Amino acid sequence: MIHFDPQGKIFTLGNERFRYVFHINAAGVPAKLYFGRPISPITENEVRAASNLAGDVYAYLDTKTNEEHIFDNPYFNGQTSAVEVPPHNSFDKRNSLIAINHDDDSSVTDFRYVRHEITKGKPTFADMPYIRDEDCTAETLMVELKDSRDEIYLRCFYSVFPDVDVLIRHNEIINKTGHDIHLTRAYSLCLDLQSNDYSLISLHGTYASDREVEEQDVFHNEIVLEENAGAKGFYHNPMAMLRKHDASNDHGEVIGIGLVYSSNFKISVMGTQMETIRVLAGMSDYDFYAPIAPNETFVTPEAFLVYSSQGIDKATHGFHDLIRNHLLRKVPEGMEKIVLLNSWEGNMFDFDTDKIIASLNAAKRMGVNLFVLDDGWFRNNDTYGLGDWKLDTEKIDLKKAIDHAHALGIRFGLWVEPEQINFNSDLYREHPEYALFDPRIDHPTTLRHQFVLDMTNPEARDNVFAKIEAIFAEYELDYCKWDFNRMLTEAYSKTLDRRYQHEIYHRFVLGSYKMLDRFVKRFPNVLLETCSGGGGRFDMGMLFYSHQIWASDETDVVPRSSIQYSTNLFYPMKVIGAHVSARKLLSIKEKGALAMFGTFGYELDPCGFGQSKFDEVKIANKRFLDNHDTIFEGDYYPLMDPYKTNFVSWMCVDKSKDSAVIYFMNYRHINWRARFLKLRGLDPKKTYRNNLDGKAYPGDFYMEVGLNLSDGMPSLTPYVIELKAK
Ligand code: GLA
Repeated sequence: MIHFDPQGKIFTLGNERFRYVFHINAAGVPAKLYFGRPISPITENEVRAASNLAGDVYAYLDTKTNEEHIFDNPYFNGQTSAVEVPPHNSFDKRNSLIAINHDDDSSVTDFRYVRHEITKGKPTFADMPYIRDEDCTAETLMVELKDSRDEIYLRCFYSVFPDVDVLIRHNEIINKTGHDIHLTRAYSLCLDLQSNDYSLISLHGTYASDREVEEQDVFHNEIVLEENAGAKGFYHNPMAMLRKHDASNDHGEVIGIGLVYSSNFKISVMGTQMETIRVLAGMSDYDFYAPIAPNETFVTPEAFLVYSSQGIDKATHGFHDLIRNHLLRKVPEGMEKIVLLNSWEGNMFDFDTDKIIASLNAAKRMGVNLFVLDDGWFRNNDTYGLGDWKLDTEKIDLKKAIDHAHALGIRFGLWVEPEQINFNSDLYREHPEYALFDPRIDHPTTLRHQFVLDMTNPEARDNVFAKIEAIFAEYELDYCKWDFNRMLTEAYSKTLDRRYQHEIYHRFVLGSYKMLDRFVKRFPNVLLETCSGGGGRFDMGMLFYSHQIWASDETDVVPRSSIQYSTNLFYPMKVIGAHVSARKLLSIKEKGALAMFGTFGYELDPCGFGQSKFDEVKIANKRFLDNHDTIFEGDYYPLMDPYKTNFVSWMCVDKSKDSAVIYFMNYRHINWRARFLKLRGLDPKKTYRNNLDGKAYPGDFYMEVGLNLSDGMPSLTPYVIELKAK
């Protein structure tokens, strides 16, 4: 998978479906030659042809001899060539990968090749999430470079897998200068493309509209997807795709870009005057000025590229398979097929022991196997309690409720928000320094009556962890919803060494990762769902620890359909938290048609349910459970785009192509445009029976003619259609 040709100093990386090729040029600069589908090996002969872009010749003055040199590879041009490590404040005026403020305040940063290593497996990190390689099938290339002026080394890591079409990158910067240096930028990945014939697909959002797809053309300026909220970022998601203009869902070149990181990030796509593109991805340089002490190393988070020569869907499968095969932890034994009931939307803070017992009894009738007591077990409103984590024993007899659940064969889980602190809490009164904000500000921002806990402070982390640990140990809980309801503002730690204050967003999330790591090691059998004011922290950093993420506090089916449609583009359904809620519109069965395309459950008060409601629940559960494996492990195909049509539709096909399940909803009464819904991903040669007209048709009929929906598809009514191979 990784090959080195010493003649041309050419590195070829990839698997059977893609190649990534660069070489070390005579100036010691790693210069990109090719990224695309597999082609014959590029050898020394082809290097010139693969790397040329017309322009000025690169020349330099050797100050030791006072001689001017014309660089002996005239086809290398600092302004235009495709490179792996673009320098800072140097010959290449496009954006840089790494920028260092040296001890004399020079910012010139320009790394050149020293050596490389190719090894089996891939790197892991002690304090950050990473793509896993448990079966040791990956290979890794490490290229070491040295700064052209100082003893600063850069190690660039590249890993590839045989089973996913992904190139994983991260960088390590090692300070051997004997004095402090400061990083002002430390991205993880650079991709230079020789054409700007692409558009950028990304996700934007806000509360209750958590992820929405948008697409924009790349011209001659920079498009920046950047988050600086610290950890709760709705506005942009750290995933994107570049679509070649002639690419569609099932053909053409699409390049995915992603990060395994939950704090401030940046994905920059810069169109240049030469009609090339430079992509950079990594942690954001917003308020970033990170010291590296002598002999210390700074490690960037992992970023990656997904390659598809077969359109958007294959790129989506690349993201999904990477997450499923190489990121997620195993779900605890016995919890593979969960139907949960969460108390939040049904009760909010308003419950007591009797109410929970009654809910559990109803849950039993519903066929629920996990009950989640959301916020409210330690308080009656959201103005107090975070940080103290003291069970409100007058409100709820937790032991009684849990024993009752267990007697009914129902597992029990709790909601927590460990990284936050109410100012109305004993913890804040005793330790005001545990709240993260600049103490010289008279009016620090409160959001939801709370501050973020200073996760850079080990003492604050230990304090809160001990309380959460005590509860989970005492009550033998099976599930945890780990929330995070506000962003970082006036970020300043009262205890962190002042030299690290401009690295605080990164250090904060490292603290969060530490706490999550401790939790999952202490409670490996607890199913963990992360959450952030709905789905504000929906990223692969979280998914290294949590099994699933609550997708959005918006649970009405119409807006939820587009949120899930957008989320599906990058994230597999087995991580997308989706519940049937108490919202007025639509029936339980109809709402279940959407919720089943995620980690399924209910979020309503079932206590007043009559028989007809229980009957609907039965249907919704059965549909979810029957199609569970296809939805969780199969391949996803979008069918109708809710942003471009009045319909929303998608389908999942299991990997053996024996079964498929389709979601369809019409936003309008008239259904002409979607009356032949063309399916995707089926085996053209297999015959599938559908449960809409009950008839069987060949796979190619469904894909070329379509599934005929003209017979009564009322508006705003979600449909589930199942296909089974005969
Ligand atoms: C957030 C979550 C909700 C719920 C509340 C509880 O808003 O997104 O699902 O847990 O917090 O306060």
